[in-house]
Amino acid sequence: MAFVVTEPCIKCKYTDCVDVCPVACFHEGENMLVIDPEECIDCGVCVDECPVTAIFSEDEVPEKWNSFIELNKKYAAEWPMIEEGKEPLDTADEYKDKEGKTGEFSSAPGA
Ligand code: SF4
Ligand code: F3S
Repeated sequence: MAFVVTEPCIKCKYTDCVDVCPVACFHEGENMLVIDPEECIDCGVCVDECPVTAIFSEDEVPEKWNSFIELNKKYAAEWPMIEEGKEPLDTADEYKDKEGKTGEFSSAPGA
């Protein structure tokens, strides 16, 4: 079991989650983060830090976002690790309440 970043993170990337994680399990894509399920110790402290409620325990991921379980696993292996928070994306305000933005997901790694 692990925690999973889901759709609300897309085009926001607030990164408050990174600063509280006791282990290094966040990886950065161009417009969202993912959690490495192999590294996550299931502490759950990141959940309440996310201003857009993007993070769920794997067994509580809303059904509409089930594909993010595999997506986190896949891209955690491809994207660079992020260990410190940074400024949110410029698009964060515009996208923070938007649903149905999974099509905007970018598979490019973060910089
Ligand atoms: Fe890190 Fe804990 Fe969140 Fe897992 S549940 S990503 S270990 S803060
Ligand atoms: Fe994304 Fe929320 Fe973290 S928007 S970067 S999961 S704080």
